[in-house]
Amino acid sequence: MRLLAIADLHYSLPQYDWLTSVAEEFDIVVIAGDHLDLSSMVDFRAQVVVVRKYLDRLKERVPILTCSGNHDLDSQNQAGEKVARWMRDLRRIGVPSDGQSLTLDDTLFTICAWWDGPAEQTAIGEQLKADAARRGERWIWVYHAPPEKSPTSWGGSRSFGDAALEKWIAEFQPDIVLSGHVHQSPFIKDGSWADRIGDTWVFNAGHQFGAPPAHIVLDTDEQTAVWFSAAGCQAVRLDEPLSRPIEPLRALPEWLRSVSPVPGPTPA
Ligand SMILES: [Fe+2]
Repeated sequence: MRLLAIADLHYSLPQYDWLTSVAEEFDIVVIAGDHLDLSSMVDFRAQVVVVRKYLDRLKERVPILTCSGNHDLDSQNQAGEKVARWMRDLRRIGVPSDGQSLTLDDTLFTICAWWDGPAEQTAIGEQLKADAARRGERWIWVYHAPPEKSPTSWGGSRSFGDAALEKWIAEFQPDIVLSGHVHQSPFIKDGSWADRIGDTWVFNAGHQFGAPPAHIVLDTDEQTAVWFSAAGCQAVRLDEPLSRPIEPLRALPEWLRSVSPVPGPTPA
């Protein structure tokens, strides 16, 4: 399975256009939150309409999964906590999102909502507990905020990670967590796009402006994860321990040589 992991598009239409242009090169696309941008000049409801249209088109090309981020919240639950109702409604157009879990090939995906309070956090814990009982050969979580105390959530002076996620990773030890949220982590000292906590890989591609967006390609057959960004490209092997500094990508993966258009900058 070749998976494209991306997050924090923040209503960047050039990035959605890029995503649309490369989507068919992958078996699945995961967008880990922050579709919208609270600081945009564009009205929030208009952003929802446009992004929903992009996702509707994308899902005709490739299976896509997406979770909410803190910029995506448009309403409240019964406890008064902010939730992304428009994203839960994406299931009506065939796009799995917050609170859903599904199996593709031999992989169980658990899609977690952004939590704004104890009710949503409790619901995520129950979702993970239920899925732990049916995890398959591989278990991947889609979760906007990376865990606390990880280079993937390092902001330069402190962690912006999720302490609850840190505990859940320790408890359930999924194979992979796909996140976003802390835009600068991969680009700064002591930050990173990849981390390994026990047997769990955690990824955060980070955010850059324009197209292509920073992105990660996981190839579960080749057991590789490759990060593509304007700051360079790096690769890790999923079946080996993580060692730092992470090696730059020295040769294009075979699958990248065979696809067109090339989904990212050419590595040095
Ligand atoms: Fe973001």
